Amino acid sequence: MDYTKASLIFKIQKISRYIKMYGPQRTWVKIHSQLHLKHENEFAGIRWINPKVAENKGKIAIIGCGNFSYSVIAYYINKYAKFSIKYAYDINKARSLSLAKKYAVYCATSRLEDILEDPAIKLVYIASNHSTHAEYAIKAIEKGKSVHIEKPHAVSIEQLNRLILAAKKHPEVKLFVGFNRPKSILFQKLKQELHKQTGPMMMNWFIAGHRIEDDHWYFSAEEGGRVLGNLCHWSDLCLHLINNKNAFPCVIQPAHHTDSKSDFAVTITFADQSVAVLTFSAKGHTFEGVREYLNVHKGDLLATLNDFYHLQMDCVNKKYKKKLTFRDHGHEKNILNSYMNTFSENGRGDDILYIYQTALLILKIKEAIDTGKRVICEDGWITTT
Ligand SMILES: NC(=O)c1ccc[n+]([C@@H]2O[C@H](COP(=O)([O-])OP(=O)(O)OC[C@H]3O[C@@H](n4cnc5c(N)ncnc54)[C@H](O)[C@@H]3O)[C@@H](O)[C@H]2O)c1
Repeated sequence: MDYTKASLIFKIQKISRYIKMYGPQRTWVKIHSQLHLKHENEFAGIRWINPKVAENKGKIAIIGCGNFSYSVIAYYINKYAKFSIKYAYDINKARSLSLAKKYAVYCATSRLEDILEDPAIKLVYIASNHSTHAEYAIKAIEKGKSVHIEKPHAVSIEQLNRLILAAKKHPEVKLFVGFNRPKSILFQKLKQELHKQTGPMMMNWFIAGHRIEDDHWYFSAEEGGRVLGNLCHWSDLCLHLINNKNAFPCVIQPAHHTDSKSDFAVTITFADQSVAVLTFSAKGHTFEGVREYLNVHKGDLLATLNDFYHLQMDCVNKKYKKKLTFRDHGHEKNILNSYMNTFSENGRGDDILYIYQTALLILKIKEAIDTGKRVICEDGWITTT
């Protein structure tokens, strides 16, 4: 939905609801981001150099300067380490220029090689369209740069394999994936309590997503649709709760109406006998953004997590209830985690086996939904170097 075209009353209601859910600062940047997407002023020529920023300070580049880069990636990096973004790159020059001006970026460029050939750049955040994530990541890895790839990190098994092989060839490079929810406070608390229990778990995710128009780029054949673009968050969370080392091989069973691109359900039976049901529905406007409800049962623990905002856990006679002041999807921690681990001496990237398995799982879920058939997902780990 284009909020800039909504009525004044609607805008006021939306803003006041978002202030309650996210606080004034994040609401402010989300509003600005809607305006950022409308910018049309481009720079002339190949690049624009910011006269207010010194060249020698930046060590980060951002590829893809849309809503997420503006309202999350650049926002948190700038808050934590001003002047550390050196390049903003996008095929839309108005977007890279707008982001560069807002966040004191040294250069808005239309030439990818500016980033790849600059030895000062140590970390590249990639938040462009889905089919280009792995391609940009491979190029950056080959130049010895650490990479944070927004979800999904690959749109095909062939692309995933090339990404993993590039990472294996360059062990000096740290690779991070853009799954933020595992770092949210309530999810971490839930995971810690679940790990104290034994045996398999039953979990049920119900997600109500934004309705997006049929001509949105997510639906272009090469981009992977809403399964790769959205459902990957919750299949990834399943692996965090179960532990990816216990998960494979798993069996995926789909339920999906062929007329709908955005409504589907899958069950996954994991190797440790845990079962997950993931239901994704995107029918109308979700005024409070994506809604996410988890019910989970393991051993003596019965828990409910709503919107990364409320957590309730019952364990025999003990009850735990927590409501946060603001929703926490783990965005800040995840963006800064890539930054801190890149620039600290003992910093580590995400585990490469996990990076592989979480992508493989969602690609196999997509195969099951697309074919309407049961799919077995072996761990399939590639051993070639
Ligand atoms: N982790 C999360 O919670 C989360 C949330 C939202 C979006 N995302 C991810 O962030 C990425 C961007 O999403 P968004 O919502 O900002 O979308 P968007 O459409 O607002 O931005 C995408 C940007 O990429 C640019 N682009 C398109 N093709 C390109 C190319 N070949 N090279 C360089 N730039 C290109 C577009 O011009 C646009 O500015 C997606 O991968 C999305 O899945 C992650």
